[in-house]
Amino acid sequence: MPTLNGTPERRAAGVPAIIPSVDLRDALRTTGAVREFTGEPVSDAVLYDILDTARFAPSGGNRQGWRTIVVRDPGLRRGLRDLYLPGWYDYLAMRGAGLVPWAPITDRDAESEALTRAASIAAEATPGFAERLDEVPVLVAVLADLRALAAVDRDFERYTLAGGASIYPFTWSILLAAHDAGLGGVMTTMLVQREAEARALLGVPDEFAVAALLALGHPIRRPTRLRRAAVEDFTTLDRFDGERFTGPAEDTRQTGPS
Ligand SMILES: Cc1cc2nc3c(=O)[nH]c(=O)nc-3n(C[C@H](O)[C@H](O)[C@H](O)COP(=O)(O)O)c2cc1C
Repeated sequence: MPTLNGTPERRAAGVPAIIPSVDLRDALRTTGAVREFTGEPVSDAVLYDILDTARFAPSGGNRQGWRTIVVRDPGLRRGLRDLYLPGWYDYLAMRGAGLVPWAPITDRDAESEALTRAASIAAEATPGFAERLDEVPVLVAVLADLRALAAVDRDFERYTLAGGASIYPFTWSILLAAHDAGLGGVMTTMLVQREAEARALLGVPDEFAVAALLALGHPIRRPTRLRRAAVEDFTTLDRFDGERFTGPAEDTRQTGPS
């Protein structure tokens, strides 16, 4: 049920009280990727309030190893877009070949073969979110302080995963808080492919990794019914090969908002 988010703190921060706020359950079920924005700017007060809410995200050992850069300079924004685009065309090429782009376990030969098509995909591309990334109302680079991550799998020989878990909940909280403020957005990681250049562009020291680039703004339209697998498709009892966890009988199960 939407509520109004006009708390005294928010009003003091200059956040308009008339923005309909979303119920947490609805927000979790409807915060889909938004890549098309109206030209309406996002005020500093609203952006500050979003970051001020997101900072309550959890992190390993509560180290809060995130660092954010709000990128406003048009030249830097174009620079970020130019670094994003090669990864985007690589992504399209791999996806077009039926691969999961950059999956840690994949057919590397098929991936290399697919990547040979990236240049022609780039040449034929029509301007979309990626090509216009520099024009989105808000661009926030999210960095991870490598001295502050509880990367419990850092010495594994397989691909490591746990370090990001100290940063991405924060990133997701930004998107949830943006939704609550009537905005939409998307987390992007394409830039990570060109991390060294991205760090040089933004003057980021070596101790920090590029975790994401967030695009935010007023959505032209907002997705409401997200395509996600059902719980029983990814949950089993006791063992990986255990019985599917089906929860309550179908007739008592709650469905998402339409
Ligand atoms: C870790 C992560 C990385 C992502 N990277 C990108 C990206 O580089 N570019 C992009 O357009 N979307 C990116 N996305 C957005 C996903 O494509 C999106 O969340 C997913 O397709 C679900 O879309 P939906 O919410 O519209 O159903 C990323 C999302 C996550 C969680």
